[in-house]
Amino acid sequence: MRDLLLGDTAYPDGSLVLEAGCGVGAKTVTLASRNPRARFVCTDISTESLAKAKENNLGNVTFQQADIFAMPFSAATFDHVFVCHVLEHLTNPVGTLRKLRPLLKPGGTITVIEGDHGSAYWHPETPASQIVWQCLIRAQARLGGDSLIGRRLFPLLTEAGFTGVRVSPRVVYCDASRQDWVDGFVRKTIIAMVEGVKTQSLELGLTDEQTWRHGIDDLNQVADQPDGTFNYTFFKAVAYA
Ligand SMILES: C[S@@+](CC[C@H](N)C(=O)[O-])C[C@H]1O[C@@H](n2cnc3c(N)ncnc32)[C@H](O)[C@@H]1O
Repeated sequence: MRDLLLGDTAYPDGSLVLEAGCGVGAKTVTLASRNPRARFVCTDISTESLAKAKENNLGNVTFQQADIFAMPFSAATFDHVFVCHVLEHLTNPVGTLRKLRPLLKPGGTITVIEGDHGSAYWHPETPASQIVWQCLIRAQARLGGDSLIGRRLFPLLTEAGFTGVRVSPRVVYCDASRQDWVDGFVRKTIIAMVEGVKTQSLELGLTDEQTWRHGIDDLNQVADQPDGTFNYTFFKAVAYA
């Protein structure tokens, strides 16, 4: 995933980069270590996540608690902005992008990476596995987010005033010949993510307990069976302020 999503992101020596919504620093570690002469300011609304991110002890990174919608920085502070898997959780992604744009210096760039749960398909694809997957999409929508946001990066960035928007799809494909991907992506990312919305899905009445169990079992079969395959597409956009 690191190379798939970040392999073509490089920041010039001396540049100042804002990573908004850095979480526990999963992307920060790669960005900061691969660009040791760039400086990073990494923000998140969660002080708990920031505390974990700080444990990575990265010399070229400072962390700061901030709401992405009300950033405590002056206009034209940063050379680049990086946002990954954050917009999907926000009720007003275009408004957020509009707030981030002035923080960039003229000619500065923004990089946005998001998934799109509508891009997922797998084999064997059973009715129950489809139902639990739809629970994931609908549960996030109930929270005000949009897990289908990847396909909207171009219009969102354009509407927010960014120019030269370039979007590239990044496809993850897993089958039994790639056990590291099956384990890391299908089991530990995809199935874990679906399992994370179980309580919410049952409480919202999106499905019943028996169908839920059946659907999770079927997704596990995709990972466990020798003929199982899984596809998912991330979208990466780069644009100018
Ligand atoms: C799925 S995590 C992604 C973390 C990191 N960017 C990554 O790719 O690993 C989403 C992050 O967005 C943060 N977040 C959500 N709403 C936010 C807001 N209004 N302001 C700042 N961060 C926010 C969450 O706290 C969480 O750390």
